[in-house]
Amino acid sequence: MIRSAFVLGSTSAVAAALCRALAEQGCRRFHLVARDANANERLAAELRVRYGAEISLEACDLFATASLDKPLRPSIDQSFDLYLITAGSLGDAEVARFDPAEALAITAANYNGLLPWLTAIVTSERIARPGRLWVFTSVAADRGRPSNYHYGAAKAALTTYCEGLLLRCQGQPFCVRILKAGFMATPMTLGKAPPLLCASPESVALDLLQRPDRRGIEYIPWWWAPLMWMVRLLPRHLASKL
Ligand SMILES: NC(=O)c1ccc[n+]([C@@H]2O[C@H](COP(=O)([O-])OP(=O)(O)OC[C@H]3O[C@@H](n4cnc5c(N)ncnc54)[C@H](OP(=O)(O)O)[C@@H]3O)[C@@H](O)[C@H]2O)c1
Repeated sequence: MIRSAFVLGSTSAVAAALCRALAEQGCRRFHLVARDANANERLAAELRVRYGAEISLEACDLFATASLDKPLRPSIDQSFDLYLITAGSLGDAEVARFDPAEALAITAANYNGLLPWLTAIVTSERIARPGRLWVFTSVAADRGRPSNYHYGAAKAALTTYCEGLLLRCQGQPFCVRILKAGFMATPMTLGKAPPLLCASPESVALDLLQRPDRRGIEYIPWWWAPLMWMVRLLPRHLASKL
């Protein structure tokens, strides 16, 4: 049973759906970390009023936590049952082709900026006790594509890093779950993905909560696994059209 959750990127549509589904199942303590303080407060108010949950809030811009000039070392309460990382950004792939600032912003939101948080969560003491880390990466990590290779590269780095954490936690009570998501119907993909291929955040949340103690790498929804297997096998002249 998940009774408490730490959420980084809590204003994400998927995080909000997961928080509501967790609260329905009896989760009563949330720490919500997000960049948009107003949207975060709205989610907090909903969880307090509808479910009587105890909420703490924190502001965070991942571009700042990625900065080498002033590295942030967050200290994180180690008592949560679930640590959920949903922050991420597609950014502007066209701009990133010529503007390194945009390329770095995409990398910060999807990889670098998360490192201080992941480091603070996954300590030797914490992994010796039962708990869960769920990290959203993306099918974009599986193959570089002309349309989004900055995002895909950052998600690939995050996936590889988390796979290392997963293996470090093998045999420990702490479960690491890497979620390679395909299209989901959220503001991130609005107008950019065929609606028929988009899973709803609510269905993703319910699916994940069916096996809360799972560890490993999984595709969300599952059918992206065979699809990405084929995409990885595509010859270059076809992959260049993706
Ligand atoms: N939607 C999809 O089709 C899809 C597919 C594959 C993977 N994913 C991944 O799944 C996760 C959840 O996505 P979603 O669709 O729910 O996205 P979303 O609704 O657009 O939410 C993205 C979240 O990331 C936060 N964020 C972005 N840049 C940030 C920064 N520099 N500093 C702090 N927070 C930042 C956003 O905060 P603000 O509210 O302040 O912008 C928001 O909370 C993401 O990691 C995404 O990459 C999504």
